[in-house]
Amino acid sequence: MDQRTVSSVIAGRPVAGAPGGRIRSTNPARLDEVVADVALGDAALLVTAARAARDAQRAWADVPAPVRGRAITHIGRLVEDNKQALAALVTREIGKPYPEALGEVQEIIDTCDFFLGEGRRLYGQTVPSEMPDKQLFTFRNPVGAVAVITAGNFPVAVPSWYIVPALLCGNTVVWKPAEYSAAVADAFHELFCRGGGLPPGVFNVVYADGPTTFAGLEQALDAGLIDKVGFTGSSEVGARIGELAGRHLQSACLELGGKNPMVVTASADIDLAVEGALFGGFGTAGQRCTSLGTVICHESVHDEFLTRFAEATAAAAVGDPFADVLYGPMLDIRFAERFERFLAWIGPQHKVMGSSGIGRITAANPRARFVGDPEAGIFCHPTIVDGVRPGDEIFDRETFGPLVGVTTYRTLDQAVELANAPGYGLSSSIYTSDATEAFRFRRGVSAGMVSVNNSTSGAEAHLPFGGNGKSGNGSRQSGQWVLDQFTRWQALNWDYSGRLQKAQMDVAELTPDRDFRL
Ligand code: UN1
Repeated sequence: MDQRTVSSVIAGRPVAGAPGGRIRSTNPARLDEVVADVALGDAALLVTAARAARDAQRAWADVPAPVRGRAITHIGRLVEDNKQALAALVTREIGKPYPEALGEVQEIIDTCDFFLGEGRRLYGQTVPSEMPDKQLFTFRNPVGAVAVITAGNFPVAVPSWYIVPALLCGNTVVWKPAEYSAAVADAFHELFCRGGGLPPGVFNVVYADGPTTFAGLEQALDAGLIDKVGFTGSSEVGARIGELAGRHLQSACLELGGKNPMVVTASADIDLAVEGALFGGFGTAGQRCTSLGTVICHESVHDEFLTRFAEATAAAAVGDPFADVLYGPMLDIRFAERFERFLAWIGPQHKVMGSSGIGRITAANPRARFVGDPEAGIFCHPTIVDGVRPGDEIFDRETFGPLVGVTTYRTLDQAVELANAPGYGLSSSIYTSDATEAFRFRRGVSAGMVSVNNSTSGAEAHLPFGGNGKSGNGSRQSGQWVLDQFTRWQALNWDYSGRLQKAQMDVAELTPDRDFRL
C-alpha cells in the first residue's frame, strides 16, 4: 500500500521542514499500516498561509464569477473521475465503510454541481428608489480571506461545503484539516488545485494540531489577515472560535456537535424506525455530528421498538470497512479513548443492549459476526442504553461514538421537551404516520434540520445545513443559504438627477382622502 508524504502547501509551494513536528496517520482498521507521514506546521506557518491568501484575494475576486464557476465545473469533473480512488483513501485513512465513503465523495460532486451555475447567477438586485432619476442596486462582494478548520469524520464532504462556495464567491482560503485525515486532505487539495487551475495562494492548506491552529488563527486575526472563519468540530472549541472571531467583530460559520433526537410515535412504522436508528446511531460508528443521540419512544411502542432495535443491532456486521458492514473502526485512537470515558456514564438505572460486550472489541471482549481481526484496529461494540432521562450525562451530552440512548414519552409536548432538553439543535427526526404530529414536532423542535420518517443523518447537499444552541450560532451551509456566509451585501445608490435629493425629505407624496367612506 502506498504511503503519502504530506506537507502544507502555501502559495502553490509545498512547505519544507516540519516546525510543528511529524506525525503518522495510520489506518484505524489496521494500525500497522501507515497511510501518511505528515509534516506539521507551527502558528507562524498559519500566519504565512493567511498572508498568502490575503495577497491572492484581490486578483481572484477580479476573475469574473462565471470563470470561477468554470473552475468549480472542472473540479467537480475531476473529483468524479477520481471518485473510487478518493473514496478508497477515505476508507483506508478514517475507516468509513466504502459505500459511505463513495457517498461522501459524491457530496463534493453535488456541491460542485450546485455552485458551478452560481458563477453565472450570484445575483444582486435592482431596487426602486423613492426619488426620481435615482436607482438602487445590491451586489454580493466576497468577504476576503477565509480560514476553514474541519474535522476528520467527513474529511472531504464537509470541507467542500465551505471551500467550494468560498472560492466561487471570490474568496481565498486557508484550510486546516484534521491531522488524522491528512492523506485524504492532501488528495482533495491536489484535485482542487489541478482541477480548478487555481492561481497560487487561492487555496492554501496547513497541517497543524489544534492548539497550534488556535494560536496561529489568533495571530492571523490580530494581523488583519483573515476575514471569516469556518469551523466544524466540538461545541467547546466552537465556542472559543466564536469568541475569538467576535473579538474581531466577525461571526464565524460554526458547525458543531449534536445530541440528535429521534421520536418514535405510536403510529410509527417500527421496522422503518429501527432501520433509521441503526443507520443514524451506528453508521460511521456514531461519529457524525448528525448521529442519533436518543430515541424518544412513545410508551406504547417502547418495548416493541427496543426489542427489534436491540436484535437488529446485535445482528449487524461490524468490522473491516472494505467489507459489507454497518460500521468500521473509530476514526482514530483518540476517539476510542474518549468514547470509553462516555461509557463510564452508564449507571445502574440503565439497561444495556446491542452487543456481547461494551467498549473496545478484542479477543477477550469479542463480538459475534465481527468481520476481520478486531485487534488489528480500533473497533468498539455498539451500545444501546435504555432508561436514560434528563440529568443523566448520557442523555444530556454528546457521546460521539456507537452509543444510542432510549427513553419514553406520553404526550407529543413531552417528546418535544425531551428532544430539546440537552440544548443542542442540529438534526432531529420523527417517525409517524400522522401529518399533524409531524408538523407540530417540526414547529417545536429546536433543531436546524428535521426528518420525517428518515434518520437524523443523511442531509442532502443543497438544503441548509446547520444548527442552533450548542450546535452552532445559526449559520447555515449548503445551497443558496451559504452564500450569506461567503459574501457581504453591498448597497449602491446612484443619483443621476444632477441635484442632491435627500432621502426621506425630498420625497413626493400623493394626497390621499382619508375621510372617504363607501
Ligand atoms: C457531519 O457529521 O459533520 O447528513 C456532517 C449527514 C451528512 C453530513 C454530516 N451528509 O449525515
